[in-house]
This record gives sequence, C-alpha cells and structure tokens, in this order.
Amino acid sequence: MSFHLDAFGLSVEPFTKEIEDRDLWLPPSKRGLVDELVDAIEARESVLVTGEPGVGKTCVLRALRNALPAERYRLTYCHNATLGRRDFYRQLCLALGLQPSATAAAVFYAVTTQVEDLARERQHPVFLLDEAHLLHQDTLDHLHILLNYAWDSKALLSLVLVGLSDLDDRLRLRRNRSLYSRLHRRLLLDPLSPEDTADYVRLRLERAGGGRELFASDAIALLHEATGGALRELDRLATACLRAAARKKRKAVDRDIVSRVVRSSSPEERP
Ligand SMILES: Nc1ncnc2c1ncn2[C@@H]1O[C@H](COP(=O)(O)OP(=O)(O)OP(=O)(O)O)[C@@H](O)[C@H]1O
Ligand SMILES: [Mg+2]
Repeated sequence: MSFHLDAFGLSVEPFTKEIEDRDLWLPPSKRGLVDELVDAIEARESVLVTGEPGVGKTCVLRALRNALPAERYRLTYCHNATLGRRDFYRQLCLALGLQPSATAAAVFYAVTTQVEDLARERQHPVFLLDEAHLLHQDTLDHLHILLNYAWDSKALLSLVLVGLSDLDDRLRLRRNRSLYSRLHRRLLLDPLSPEDTADYVRLRLERAGGGRELFASDAIALLHEATGGALRELDRLATACLRAAARKKRKAVDRDIVSRVVRSSSPEERP
C-alpha cells in the first residue's frame, strides 16, 4: 500500500479516476445537467455538451448511462472522434453490433435498417460522441444526415456531442448550421464553485475511508483557486498534497502544503 494511504488510514486512493458509476459525485449543478440530458433523450432530441478540459464531461455521460433504463435505450459510446468519415461510420456499425460495410452508402443503409429494427423493439439508440471537438470536418458534414430521417420527420437516433468549448464555436459556423440546428439543446458544463470543490474533496475522502477533515478549509479554498474548478486538476493536486503531508508526517493537509505543492507543480510560475 502507498505510504500516504497508510499514513492517513485510507483504504484506497481517494482522488482516482477509477470510480464506479454508482459512486459518481452529483451535486445539484451536475444532477441538473444529467436530468436535462435524460429529458432530452426521452424526447428523442440531440444534445451538445461543452465545457473546459477536466470539468467532468465524460463523467456526466457515465451518470447519464446509469440514469437511463437499459431496456428502452441502446447507448453507444465513442471517443475516437479523429476517424475519417468512412472509418467513423464503420465504427458506428461495430458499436451497433452490425457488420462493418465497405462503402459509406452501405454503412449508412445498415445503420438506418438497424435503427428501424431497434424502433420496432421500442429501443431508442443513443450515440454518445465524446471528444467531438476532434471530429474531422468531413465527418461533421455528414453527421446531420443521421438526424434527418423519413423526410426529416423522425430522428434516427439521439446524438450527444460532447467536447471542449471551441466545439460550440465551430458548430456555429455557416458550414455546420444543418447539424447545429438539429442539436435541440446546447448545454454548458461549468467549472466547480468553491462550495462544490469542498464538497467533492470531502466526499472522495469519505469514500476512501478517510476523515472528512483531512484537508483544512483554507487548504481547500486554495486548491479551488489553483484548479479553477477543473476536477482532473483537483484530483492531481489533492493527491500530491496528501503525499507531501505524509512525507512531512503531518496529520492533515494545511494551506501551507497546498501552496508548496501548487508552486512546485506549476513550473511556469517558478522564478
Ligand atoms: N461526477 C464525478 N464524480 C466523481 N469524480 C468525477 C466526477 N466528474 C469528474 N470526476 C473526476 O475528474 C476527472 C476528470 O473528469 P472527466 O474525465 O469527466 O472530465 P472531462 O471534462 O471529460 O475532461 P476532458 O475535457 O479532458 O475530456 C475524472 O477522472 C474523475 O476522477
Ligand atoms: Mg472527457
């Protein structure tokens, strides 16, 4: 077991990405977003979710998966957005359990047939496309076709596009307006508030079997400032703080430790 876990009586690493869906942290701000996504998908709509790096977009998708009844929705998660159009459709086929076809037209036909089968079985397909800011323009150009079915009277599937904030700017371009206009809801995942940061740190410590007060309040306030409300950065710094406190044989992480860790882990701020 790691030295810092031993030192603070923690049973597992507290700030790790290995977290079960059911243990995901959902404060009111995130719960509201997941509810809105569920609502959109129940209405067979498509959605755009954007946010800065590490604010918890992919975890919101996991919470969504957990919230939707599996018997009514077939979810497909794809994070390989860098593929060209043809490979992208092949991947969509594989994810839907279809034989990948050689031409884009055949793939499109296979996808639409499968979607009809699913509709007969009363299962609505939901395609979750993570890291969508990396999509090639070539793929984006065709994506709206998937949302445009039966003379545009029905949606073949619900598309959930997730990516960094510049995805929104890109989709607003004239060239992408067909797709953008079919994304019924455009949601923004904000960075954490200072209260959220405190709540998150304490919850994850508690889940790892540690005391909620392992980080002093002013230490958490400084962590919040340093991370700007981004969760991945918070995980990284909080772990470094626990290690530093254990090395110094402290009982808890105080503001001074956070300040040292922040300085030593941001090389550009060194004199
Ligand atoms: N709801 C949550 N509950 C628990 N931990 C979370 C939650 N959201 C985020 N995290 C933590 O923060 C890390 C980063 O979150 P996530 O990968 O969802 O961010 P992201 O916005 O998708 O980042 P990127 O822009 O790099 O794709 C996760 O690995 C996890 O440790
Ligand atoms: Mg992500």
